Amino acid sequence: MEDLFKKLISHSKEYGFIFQSSEIYDGLSAVYDYGQYGAALKNNIRDYWWKAMTQLNEEVVGIDSAIFMHPMVWKASGHVDAFNDPLIDNKDSKKRYRADVLIEEHIEKMQQKINKEVEKARKRFGDAFDEKQFCETNPRVLKYSEKIKDVTEKMVDYLDNNKLDDLKILIEEEGIVCPISGSRNWTDVRQFNLMFDTKLGSLAEGSNTIYLRPETAQGIFVNYLNVQKTGRMKLPFGIAQTGKAFRNEIVARQFIFRMREFEQMEMQYFVKPGTEKEWFELWRERRMNWHNSFGFDANKFRWHKHDKLAHYANAAYDIEFEFPFGFKELEGIHSRTDFDLKQHQEFSGKKLQFFDLEAGESYVPYVVETSIGLDRTFLMILTAAYCEETVGNEERVVLKIPAPIAPIKAAIMPLVKKDGLPEIAREIINELKFDLTCQYDEKDSIGRRYRRQDAIGTPFCITVDHQTIEDKTVTIRYRDSMEQERIPIEKVSKIVREKADIRNLLKKL
Ligand code: GAP
Repeated sequence: MEDLFKKLISHSKEYGFIFQSSEIYDGLSAVYDYGQYGAALKNNIRDYWWKAMTQLNEEVVGIDSAIFMHPMVWKASGHVDAFNDPLIDNKDSKKRYRADVLIEEHIEKMQQKINKEVEKARKRFGDAFDEKQFCETNPRVLKYSEKIKDVTEKMVDYLDNNKLDDLKILIEEEGIVCPISGSRNWTDVRQFNLMFDTKLGSLAEGSNTIYLRPETAQGIFVNYLNVQKTGRMKLPFGIAQTGKAFRNEIVARQFIFRMREFEQMEMQYFVKPGTEKEWFELWRERRMNWHNSFGFDANKFRWHKHDKLAHYANAAYDIEFEFPFGFKELEGIHSRTDFDLKQHQEFSGKKLQFFDLEAGESYVPYVVETSIGLDRTFLMILTAAYCEETVGNEERVVLKIPAPIAPIKAAIMPLVKKDGLPEIAREIINELKFDLTCQYDEKDSIGRRYRRQDAIGTPFCITVDHQTIEDKTVTIRYRDSMEQERIPIEKVSKIVREKADIRNLLKKL
């Protein structure tokens, strides 16, 4: 899996999907740029999410709020006081870590030791092996399991109750060393706020500290009343938004999985208090359907229920995806009660309520939130779509991206660069480009051109050859099956448009 991750990163760079930010200056840590195909894929994913939210659901509308917001927003939301990570420095390597991540990695190592014991026993006992019985009786596995339980419980307690000294003691007691220096020479654990701040206005005018938003959701909450009133919205209704968010992540790695600048796609669904559980279940189902609509292996997605809820939530699940580094959070679906609107009501002094005509009363609506990272969705699609296959004696790397979100829908190729074939290919592309993103490619052998298109996930290659001059037909080659068919030129547009239509995905929802 680690190998796959390295391949995804180098493939992304080699084929113009993702570059390191400011690469010519040796890059900027945990910040990435999307290249020509990456930007197209990202736009298509965002567009699909947007349509699934706002076009398929009449009661969900989309907004685009500003990245900068009044500083009180972040006081009210709790981000100023509580959007922290516990950090610790190693005095020898001068490297900074998240204390909880160091402990989690230590736990993971113990889990790997258990897995090794299980695998050894499986080989030894063959078909007769009973994993459950083995884990419940093997002394070494029991010792590690108890240790994992003990360390996890302590960590959760110390984090929840802000016992930073105890967190440091736990790291020392467990003998956790710095991966770089190998030493245990740690500083104290301190809380580190993840929000980036900057100044509004020129210094001469007296500047004000403001924050780059760490989530898009607050832009929705503060516009609840504007949208409800101007759109004459009745409960339940939703507000969706996509946009950049910024977090000064201490442990920012794993490529685009955890970045300092990233994009979110969030939707807040405002409901009558007391009905939130049923809407929560409905949105859980809708969101999982959205992920499954891509047609990837359903076993790669799973639910993670939050057993320990934030004080303002009354239900929370994550959709996890099996990334090359294991199952990790892709999307959060949370029932957030009336916490956020009530906080903004209190801090702004403005009523953020809904007048329920039927009930004849006003109340602050409850909220069900769906929140997904666009970059993580991109990485999910890249992971699921990446395939290495052997064709004859050759290896091909193909991105099996669903046609409706593929960056380039069709490549038009003259078999040779002469005999009038390029002119016909140009005519075809000049017609297709009004509906579809296409690419004209005449360089290298046809086989190499197919490989190049496979590598960027182009679902259809249209080849113009000498027979085209005689009977006005071309070949269409399908990326996944590599099958080729002869079709009349006049049918190319219809066939490709039908197969690459975003309706094919939307209809599955
Ligand atoms: N409004 C709720 C909220 O922001 P979150 O779990 O902090 O919740 C939601 O973030 C989603 O945003 C995550 O599930 C993940 O997909 C994405 N996300 C969060 N931090 C990220 C980061 N540093 N880099 C990339 N994506 C991130």
